[in-house]
Amino acid sequence: METARPLRVLELYCGIGGCAAALPPEATVVAALDTNQTALEVYRWNFPHRALPVNLDFMAASDLQSWTADLWWLTPPCQPFTVRGLRQDTDDSRSRSLLRIIDCLEEAQPAYLALENVPGFRGSQTHSLLRSALKGLGYAVQEVVLCPTELGIPNRRQRLYLVAGLRGLGAMVKQTPENRPLEAFLDPQPSPDLWVDEELTDQYRHALSIVDPEQASAVASCFTSAYGRSPVRSGSYLETASGLRRFSPTEILRFLGFAPDFELPPRLSTQVAWRLVGNSLSVPAVRHVLSAIPELAGGGSSYSR
Ligand SMILES: C[S@@+](CC[C@H](N)C(=O)[O-])C[C@H]1O[C@@H](n2cnc3c(N)ncnc32)[C@H](O)[C@@H]1O
Repeated sequence: METARPLRVLELYCGIGGCAAALPPEATVVAALDTNQTALEVYRWNFPHRALPVNLDFMAASDLQSWTADLWWLTPPCQPFTVRGLRQDTDDSRSRSLLRIIDCLEEAQPAYLALENVPGFRGSQTHSLLRSALKGLGYAVQEVVLCPTELGIPNRRQRLYLVAGLRGLGAMVKQTPENRPLEAFLDPQPSPDLWVDEELTDQYRHALSIVDPEQASAVASCFTSAYGRSPVRSGSYLETASGLRRFSPTEILRFLGFAPDFELPPRLSTQVAWRLVGNSLSVPAVRHVLSAIPELAGGGSSYSR
């Protein structure tokens, strides 16, 4: 009997590889593209795929087609659509690459396309341009706003996911909920650098999101790329017997559902690691969304080092 060839995935805005981490063995990443050299370094440290420095602002349909990918996975910058940003949408230079890719759709037409962004993307002009391009080309489209808490993970990260298929899509398959308490995501021996100054605690305590790991219902707020730089609204702090501490990048990776063998290269500073992991993806949420693609409906994880 003939075995089906793996689904070929082009990981656009790949960062540290949240999509690669979510893909089942029925898929293979043909290329992973990003402008951030440090993110690419982390990607290459963990995955064997070709990870290349490419500025997507200048993509041509022929460049995208050259990878003969069945699925384009896109995690474009969210700043043009966030409540905290200026919501400049199509006028924000960080939307340029996505607008470019939308322009390439008519000529390139991948069998599938999927995208993750903040919920504020829905209703933006960029969203409407993407939806009408897909509709005009006859893609079936599904959208879902999903938070890892709905998958039993004690960490908020509500995001909009869009998946589109030229030959149709199946129903998304609900992933088995994790239902592990927040305490189970903590490092056994957290680094002393994670504890915060009392001064910061006193100054911002009223505005900080503080979680007590002894509470079974504790849920950490969304960790953004500003964690460690911006004291408020960038992620939670942990209450401990010796004061407040930040969550480590490894703990955040656990919340995001990366496999235990995913590693941050040792020379990466904690500040840089926070920036990269805060930009990444909830792996179980991505699996949930990709399950709408009939070839990937089996789910599961493929890659380990
Ligand atoms: C939201 S993050 C995506 C993170 C990624 N999915 C992950 O799992 O880590 C957006 C990424 O887009 C990259 N990026 C932004 N503008 C780009 C452009 N014009 N071309 C290529 N990559 C770009 C950033 O470097 C960043 O890694």
